[in-house]
Amino acid sequence: MKTGNKYGIHRVIEPQGVLPQPATKVDNNMSQLFDNEILIDVDVLNIDSASFTQIKEQAKGNTEEIKCIILDIVTKQGKMKNPVTGSGGMLIGSIAKIGSALQGSIDLKEGDRIATLVSLSLTPLFIEEIIDIKPEIDQVKIKGKAILFESGIYAKLPADLSETLSLAVLDVCGAPAQTERLVKKGDTVVVLGAGGKSGILCCAVAKTIVGDDGLVIGADYSDENIERLIQVGVCDKAIKLNATDALDCYETIEAITKGELADVVINNVNIPNTEMGTILMCKDRGTVYFFSMATSFTKAALGAEGVGKDVDMLIGNGYAIGHADMAIDILRKDEKIRKLYEELYT
Ligand SMILES: NC(=O)c1ccc[n+]([C@@H]2O[C@H](COP(=O)([O-])OP(=O)(O)OC[C@H]3O[C@@H](n4cnc5c(N)ncnc54)[C@H](OP(=O)(O)O)[C@@H]3O)[C@@H](O)[C@H]2O)c1
Repeated sequence: MKTGNKYGIHRVIEPQGVLPQPATKVDNNMSQLFDNEILIDVDVLNIDSASFTQIKEQAKGNTEEIKCIILDIVTKQGKMKNPVTGSGGMLIGSIAKIGSALQGSIDLKEGDRIATLVSLSLTPLFIEEIIDIKPEIDQVKIKGKAILFESGIYAKLPADLSETLSLAVLDVCGAPAQTERLVKKGDTVVVLGAGGKSGILCCAVAKTIVGDDGLVIGADYSDENIERLIQVGVCDKAIKLNATDALDCYETIEAITKGELADVVINNVNIPNTEMGTILMCKDRGTVYFFSMATSFTKAALGAEGVGKDVDMLIGNGYAIGHADMAIDILRKDEKIRKLYEELYT
């Protein structure tokens, strides 16, 4: 077997010298495995929500067109990196082969079921066939193969949850883990897109931390999502807000907090142009966490400066140590959330 680079640079075709994520094309030839790679037989792709929302719009909701767009992206790039949003998602599958340099040094064997915890935007992928598309949960059933690099992280699929449910939760597991780090007792926290997959988990974590003196406000767009938030009881207030309407976001949170605004604002929406609404809801020296993949660095940075907001803004790193176990544990401990996620994502 040929020797591979830890970060997978050996698979980059264009442009030479960059890492696999920013690459425009990676080698998805699955017949030759490098010594530090893991070959996966892939069953399901969980396309990142910002990416799937964009693809659904481009395809005008037509399932056959969605298939064509996905196949076109993977054929051109050797990976599932949406050229508009730049984002990916993750996958589940079975271990087909482990490179010779990794034998004995990892806790995996052929046949193990895993979810990759690195983005599809950097994962070499070959799709033999798209079997089914579930647009309502952003999942695509395929027959295909993928490569996990030596530096790539993964989770063995838990036995007590269905695989598609695990995939959905693990896709966003960085969000609740980062929320735990950012929120303090007594804080006022606003979660935008709170009724979505990552939003509910962020609200649940924030609620356990803020205590009686704090406030968790879950904001979402549709009546259905607000109803969902009230049902699972993960926030103190569930309010209807359009995250693209910056002034309304500001005035609503200003009124609720009596002018104080929020200590922490977490953005979990799946559409563009929500940077200013997010920033305006946050108080000076507060923290804004952009988990959304539809976030523009330029809009956020110049926008905050433009309105004179001294806030710390964090990019939504999808990885935090222990993030997968933590997210799965939320479902194990909270019966209401688990029931809701089983209804929505299985
Ligand atoms: N940083 C990372 O590593 C990472 C990893 C995975 C995902 N992400 C990103 O995180 C974001 C959330 O992912 P997710 O899987 O939780 O998505 P999701 O389940 O689709 O949730 C998004 C929520 O935002 C709501 N929303 C849409 N438009 C809105 C508006 N104008 N105002 C207020 N709320 C609105 C959605 O409502 P509807 O249901 O009505 O659309 C939904 O409830 C996405 O951008 C995704 O790409 C980031």
